[in-house]
Amino acid sequence: MEFQRAKEADFEGKWIPQPAQEKDLAELAAMIFDSELGRKYYPTEKTLLEKMQAACQNSDRIMVVREKEKICGMLWFQMKGAFGMYPYLHLIFIPDSMKGNGVGRELMRYLEYYALNGEGQKIKSRIFLTAGSWNEGTIEFYDRLGYTTIGVIPSLFRKNVEERLLMKVCNRVL
Ligand SMILES: CC(C)(COP(=O)(O)OP(=O)(O)OC[C@H]1O[C@@H](n2cnc3c(N)ncnc32)[C@H](O)[C@@H]1OP(=O)(O)O)[C@@H](O)C(=O)NCCC(=O)NCCS
Repeated sequence: MEFQRAKEADFEGKWIPQPAQEKDLAELAAMIFDSELGRKYYPTEKTLLEKMQAACQNSDRIMVVREKEKICGMLWFQMKGAFGMYPYLHLIFIPDSMKGNGVGRELMRYLEYYALNGEGQKIKSRIFLTAGSWNEGTIEFYDRLGYTTIGVIPSLFRKNVEERLLMKVCNRVL
């Protein structure tokens, strides 16, 4: 299995995300499936694992951060996943034991950095993501980072589960 070329060399921070390796995917699938979010959106852990394996074969980027070799956060995005031209955040996930330590904020900072620097230099970009309306704490997290709800989509991924579409405009600081 081939993985994307790393372009994170210039990103500075406490946690430097690295592309997930094939051996990480089973650990990630187990970690995500062992959560309310994982079980709500994926029928089985195997389905989730297969989706991640397929994603790594195309242009999706699945990034992980580690502390003492243990995965303590994951970011999965598509650079042109929104309207064929803007980054779309497919999933961010922090295991319970690491929540509240700033890993989520740091991964979102990486996403914004990559949107402007990752594949060609851009002055401005827009990042899109969806979050279930039920996931209130996560919506608060995005709100604190400057993401705004721009629409509501009923039953987008699961019947009777409403999703919010959020967006942030990111500008290069000159
Ligand atoms: C949402 C999530 C990514 C946040 O990650 P985290 O590492 O715990 O968040 P951070 O520690 O970086 O927090 C950043 C800020 O968001 C706030 N925040 C984080 N989670 C929050 C919550 N559940 N409720 C309210 N505020 C929250 C923090 O208080 C902090 O605020 P500050 O500006 O006062 O410092 C994490 O809880 C998670 O993985 N949840 C489960 C998976 C999920 O729902 N993913 C999103 C799918 S759309």
